[in-house]
Amino acid sequence: MGGNPFGRALAGWVSDPVRSTRTCAAALPSCDVAAGAQLLGTRTPGFRPPRTVRYSLPTARLPLAIDSLSVLLISDLHVGGRSHPALTALDGLAGARTDLLIAAGDLVESERFVTDVGERLARIEARLGSFAVWGNHDALGKPQSRGPGWLRHETRSLPDLEAGLAAHGIQTLTNCAVRLIVNGAPLQLIGVGDAHVGLCDLDAAFDGVDPDIFTILAAHNPDTAFELGRRRVDLTLSGHTHGGQIALPFFGPLTLRLRNRLPRPCGLMYVKGRPLVVSAGVGTAGVPVRFNAPADVVDLRLIRVRSP
Ligand SMILES: [Fe+2]
Repeated sequence: MGGNPFGRALAGWVSDPVRSTRTCAAALPSCDVAAGAQLLGTRTPGFRPPRTVRYSLPTARLPLAIDSLSVLLISDLHVGGRSHPALTALDGLAGARTDLLIAAGDLVESERFVTDVGERLARIEARLGSFAVWGNHDALGKPQSRGPGWLRHETRSLPDLEAGLAAHGIQTLTNCAVRLIVNGAPLQLIGVGDAHVGLCDLDAAFDGVDPDIFTILAAHNPDTAFELGRRRVDLTLSGHTHGGQIALPFFGPLTLRLRNRLPRPCGLMYVKGRPLVVSAGVGTAGVPVRFNAPADVVDLRLIRVRSP
């Protein structure tokens, strides 16, 4: 971190005994994704590499010791094979550094590839730890012939999936919270299951959470940001929308069912006065095509500001 005052402020971060041994984080190199992207662009017809989208979020509730916290948000890989282009995109991120890595769900299309994803995520240096939540595609297996909507699908074993990530040091948060401490200042990270498939339990997730502590919520489905009620959340991180995936001129996204609720398909926005960051994701669902909805990973920095 050298002379970076934010880096010095963050030097005392600890999370748990394993992750606290990680080195101090630096900003995500801007060339990391691009490097992987070049490979993708030449090897996988129709797959456009993810771009790195950067946001700075000013917030008055952020403790001074956490000022300039960096968060890398990766979502919607939809890995369905060992040579899947989203894995190549993650290869391009190897060695990148951040304070907090959040994988916001829809990571795999089959449980067979959880380990492949975990291996790649583990190559990103996240000083405070790497965390994941599950999306609807992670939780659901093969379609079945009967039943309405998502009930037509098999449900995968989430503990088995979680074990696949845990083997690589990535902690899954399913309706639970962890508290991180830096220089005596606390930060709460809450993760919920996917709302679309009925696995989001906000009461369980917020059980024991202290409303006076700065709180980040990871939820695959950004719809969750509308359902928080009076719960205190300082930032929600989501994916799911794919930025619309296919967005026609004058018509908009074809696949985005949430467009009537979210102010926009992806990016930094505010829902009921709370900041929400939605990644457009890396991969695709349904048809392997994006149009007018570029893939991304989000490099977010939280900036402490004085209360007005
Ligand atoms: Fe997705």
